[in-house]
Amino acid sequence: MVLPRIVGAEILDGLAVDDPAATRSRRDLRRVHRAMATRSIVSRALRAAIVSTPATRPLQVLEIGAGDGSLLLGVARRLAPAWPPVELTLLDAQPLVERETITSYADLGWKVVPAVVDVLGWAAAVTDPLLPNSATARWDLIVANLFLHHFADADLAGLLGAIAVRSDRLFACEPRRAWLALAGSHLLGALGVNAVTREDAVLSVHAGFKGKELSALWPSGPAEWRLHEYPAGLFSHCFRAERVEVV
Ligand SMILES: C[S@@+](CC[C@H](N)C(=O)[O-])C[C@H]1O[C@@H](n2cnc3c(N)ncnc32)[C@H](O)[C@@H]1O
Repeated sequence: MVLPRIVGAEILDGLAVDDPAATRSRRDLRRVHRAMATRSIVSRALRAAIVSTPATRPLQVLEIGAGDGSLLLGVARRLAPAWPPVELTLLDAQPLVERETITSYADLGWKVVPAVVDVLGWAAAVTDPLLPNSATARWDLIVANLFLHHFADADLAGLLGAIAVRSDRLFACEPRRAWLALAGSHLLGALGVNAVTREDAVLSVHAGFKGKELSALWPSGPAEWRLHEYPAGLFSHCFRAERVEVV
């Protein structure tokens, strides 16, 4: 039996930043990532994606829907020894990045700029309001973790269209829309997570992806792209897009 893609509003997105249930749910997310092995999945993919970039300037990296920036910090710790310096913009609709997190990135040689912005507003702007003009014409890499599934296909196609114009690479790690992941999301209470996290986890799987769904939404434009979409771990679905001339 197929699981149709259903995008529902997640509870966490409707809570105030300082709502205790939201704070707890954001902390829960770290446990969820451990159960999903997200850090390993993302580290492996980014190591492969960025391998051929010359180290002549800091890499310009944008994470969309970055949350508190802690997931990518764990990834950065693994990547930093082999990567050039990074200028990282953490975009989220809510102000969630703490000073200590920025300091931890700085210890790795990664300069962080938080940006409290709605991603659809970012995508709709005529020119990219976040890319530092002096650095490069495009982001070297845009990353999304547990984020693209928030959007129904029409908004997602617009967002992917903006990403294709403004970057050389995208990597996304999303919930896999599959029976095993759905069962896992219903069992999340075993990790001791709160009601918001439990409910959002189930919604996330229903809004997740399978097969080549993200590839199908990627724009066909003048630039050539290499697309790779694949299941990862038990519960994740990954999508990698690389502009061919930079690979
Ligand atoms: C499930 S969390 C993922 C956070 C982080 N990427 C991670 O994996 O730990 C989704 C994040 O997307 C943000 N978000 C939701 N809708 C957004 C939008 N339209 N624009 C920007 N951020 C948004 C939320 O504030 C939240 O921090």
